[in-house]
Amino acid sequence: MCLLWSSCTLAGDLGDLKQRLAACESCHKHTDNAQQSYAPSISGKPVEYLYQQLLNYRDGRRLNSSMNTMLTYLSDDYLHEIASYYSELPETDFTGESDARKLSSAEAITGKELVHTGATGPACSTCHGSDLRGDGVAIPSLRGLSAKYIAAQLGAWRTGTRHALAPDCMKEVATMLTGDELNVVSQWIAHAFEEASTPQAIDVEMPLPCGALQ
Ligand code: HEC
Ligand code: HEC
Repeated sequence: MCLLWSSCTLAGDLGDLKQRLAACESCHKHTDNAQQSYAPSISGKPVEYLYQQLLNYRDGRRLNSSMNTMLTYLSDDYLHEIASYYSELPETDFTGESDARKLSSAEAITGKELVHTGATGPACSTCHGSDLRGDGVAIPSLRGLSAKYIAAQLGAWRTGTRHALAPDCMKEVATMLTGDELNVVSQWIAHAFEEASTPQAIDVEMPLPCGALQ
């Protein structure tokens, strides 16, 4: 059994991977309504997306003290194994209420416009798909994320505490939103999902280049 994350390796005598990852479940519950909690659900997300995020935390492109500390000394192979494990679990059931507040009708119009038409920056749906369920590879679904998590990620891109591989299109997208738009689009998206379905392939030109896709 591997007690210290920093001493974990891929060696088989450290116990079953599932046991070793029990520590993750304390924050990333995979059965509860994840929309209510800040830590996002990770079960059933695409392996390449999860792997890239684990690398980002380990290598300091994405800052969160718990995540950074846990992953510090883990190898690429081990992070890929963890990503594969979670990608093969069933997707969390996201039905239930989100943490989003009720939007005024003017805010609801703005939220929909930002997601589906775009304003100063491109519409979220041009990359995340018309149903916002991502491309199943490197562009994540926005389904099941809490409003506070979405807002925090957009804020982190603006302030430079979250980076994706260059060119980092999300940094540009987040920087083009005003503070009010950032808040409204986060609330609108957290409202938007009611039932499950699988991500669809997206077959359009990206409005900005994204390193995550290369
Ligand atoms: C103390 C609570 C905690 C523990 C334990 C924890 N995480 Fe996290 N994790 C978080 C939080 C909070 C975030 C979001 C942080 C942010 O804003 O970037 C996160 C983010 C992530 C993400 C990015 C998800 C996404 O959609 O972009 C992945 C992947 C992840 N964690 C995997 C793991 C794995 C694997 C473990 C076990 C080795 C683990 N976490 C343990 C709290 C935790
Ligand atoms: C040009 C393409 C593009 C556009 C437009 C775009 N995104 Fe993204 N988005 C991405 C990519 C690529 C990632 C994955 C980045 C990474 O690897 O960290 C991402 C990731 C995210 C994440 C992180 C999800 C998680 O689980 O942590 C959020 C939140 C997000 N986008 C919200 C938005 C919102 C809101 C909009 C519209 C205002 C938007 N995106 C528009 C390409 C795009």
